[in-house]
Amino acid sequence: MSTVTTNIESLAHEERVFPPPASFSQKAHLKSMAELERLRREAYEHPEEFWAGMAQELYWFRKWDKVLQWEPPHAQWFVGGKINISYNCLDRHLSTWRGNKAALIWEGEPGDMRTLTYQQLHREVCRFANVLKRAGVQTGDRVALYMPLIPELAISMLACARIGATHSVIFGGFSSTALIDRINDASCKLVVTADGGWRRGSEVKLKAAVDEALKQTPSVETCIVVRRTAVPIHMEAGRDHWWHELMETVDANCPAEELDSEHPLFILYTSGTTGKPKGILHTTAGYLVQTHLTTKWVFDLKDEDVYWCTADIGWVTGHSYVVYGPLSNGATVLMYEGAPNHPEPDRFWSIVERHRVNILYTAPTAIRAFIKWGEQWPLKHDLSSLRLLGTVGEPINPEAWMWYREIIGKGVCPIVDTWWQTETGAIMITPLPGATATKPGSATKPFPGIEADVMTRDGKSVGANEGGYLVIKRPWPSMLRTIWGDDDRYREQYWSQIDGIYFAGDGARVDEDGYFWIMGRIDDVINVSGHRLGTAEVESALVSHAAVAEAAVVARPDELKGSAIIAFVTLEGTHTPSDQLKEILRAHVTKEIGALARPEEIRFSDMLPKTRSGKIMRRLLREIATSGSVAGDVTTLEDFSVLEKLRAEEEC
Ligand code: WTA
Repeated sequence: MSTVTTNIESLAHEERVFPPPASFSQKAHLKSMAELERLRREAYEHPEEFWAGMAQELYWFRKWDKVLQWEPPHAQWFVGGKINISYNCLDRHLSTWRGNKAALIWEGEPGDMRTLTYQQLHREVCRFANVLKRAGVQTGDRVALYMPLIPELAISMLACARIGATHSVIFGGFSSTALIDRINDASCKLVVTADGGWRRGSEVKLKAAVDEALKQTPSVETCIVVRRTAVPIHMEAGRDHWWHELMETVDANCPAEELDSEHPLFILYTSGTTGKPKGILHTTAGYLVQTHLTTKWVFDLKDEDVYWCTADIGWVTGHSYVVYGPLSNGATVLMYEGAPNHPEPDRFWSIVERHRVNILYTAPTAIRAFIKWGEQWPLKHDLSSLRLLGTVGEPINPEAWMWYREIIGKGVCPIVDTWWQTETGAIMITPLPGATATKPGSATKPFPGIEADVMTRDGKSVGANEGGYLVIKRPWPSMLRTIWGDDDRYREQYWSQIDGIYFAGDGARVDEDGYFWIMGRIDDVINVSGHRLGTAEVESALVSHAAVAEAAVVARPDELKGSAIIAFVTLEGTHTPSDQLKEILRAHVTKEIGALARPEEIRFSDMLPKTRSGKIMRRLLREIATSGSVAGDVTTLEDFSVLEKLRAEEEC
């Protein structure tokens, strides 16, 4: 039976279902399952009409001639239209009462605060756009942004978009090597940075990393530096300029360029597991339409809300759901510069209380950290302003989902578990909080207009509850357009694994109600005695034990079984490692999902290796489990000391 070796088997079962609270549904943008199903049907039957209808909420200098031009694997959306995303995020609101509404409420890690109204933000963006123009940046040029999470980062993005420069945000935690690769790949002309930023009370020396990088980036002519920490730095005469000084030299009048719908808006690099990072290219109109609509419906955004997405703007979540989606909706966006546990593990909850945050969107990795730190921290604060919770970035195990619901949401806030990727640009599979009954651990169903499926390698849909490969069968407005400078890789990676269908690289299953359950990256799949298991289900079984805060499982080659499961486990604060606990956990997995998934070995560890966006790097654990050391690329690793600790753990 070929499916045994080519497909992914699912062992998990989750019975709990939470219908949306009636009080929430009554006031929601989408109020019922019937309404949502009607929209899904309409969008399925007439996708172009559906998206065109939604595009009408935005401001167009010129309307499109054609909604979709699809020459697989290349899509153009709203062909012939003229639009500007910066105009839609700012100018459009100024003629309404929102002019004096808070656009950004920002809190720095040391506790300093700034608020910018739409009017003020518009002014700053126009001035910085003039600064860019004066520095010689033209429509089509690339600009690198390497900054802390400060308002100037959003201002820089919106200023680039205003004049048609393509931004490439490079996460402020990356090293100068990562900067060099990314700046050179896109031949950026200008870099915007800051002297430094604050993280867990220490200074992150951004300008020093830029100085190092710019020795090897011939395309860069100018570097603009925001003063954030005021720690002395080197300024290269002729090349480096202070932001605040340049801003004095320009006026605040800068009309938005009328750009083609398909004008390149940004490049954002994602790390492949091997090889050089891929520059994911997004363009203007389709990206705006889908981020605008998903922000409004998925977060049920209202004008009165204070909305907080905790992601760094260096990731796609920050692009789509800190900056473009919320601002195009005229929302009040909270931004926080620093770490969740500075100065204490209750920083997030003190922010929620202080600013009366209504909508909170964060990552499973953060939720698991909060669980580990203990519920006394959120319980110290008044979280009653919260009305909706969201998660993104990894499969959320039901245990963490329930904790989020009970401890943070007090059992009354709906949770939206949103599946999407840098490549998809916007949310693809998600509950709509006033309509969808949720199940802990499931991202539920595709957003209207999105046709997702789970297939075998040879392109056949699998049956209910059978594991397989997650795919998208139709183009969608915010899809990536190509990989910058490498269209062959774009075709190969995303459209050729299953011919002509978008291949997401995740394992998934769809249950009998049509709900999607993401089982993890297919690169991480474990093969035990010919059965292919996704990592998420085994990890989730481990985390469902009271002693476990977080777990990562990998395969180690095994003569008998093909591979053996090795589990790396982080314990909750009050529990201590012991051989007895190892046995208990192995038995627990057997009880939860079966003997097949029982880990051969359990290793306790204080930390797991993660990328800087919080994803567990199972590839490194695999190397440690197999050879005891790590030879592969570790440039995206958050904390290098974790590798030392994992190796030490193995020796004792
Ligand atoms: C994973 C982040 C399960 C998945 C927006 C995807 C998720 C990758 C979820 C993309 C979710 C994201 N449930 N898994 N709700 N959301 N993922 O490019 O493996 O940083 O392919 O984009 O994260 O990560 P990226």
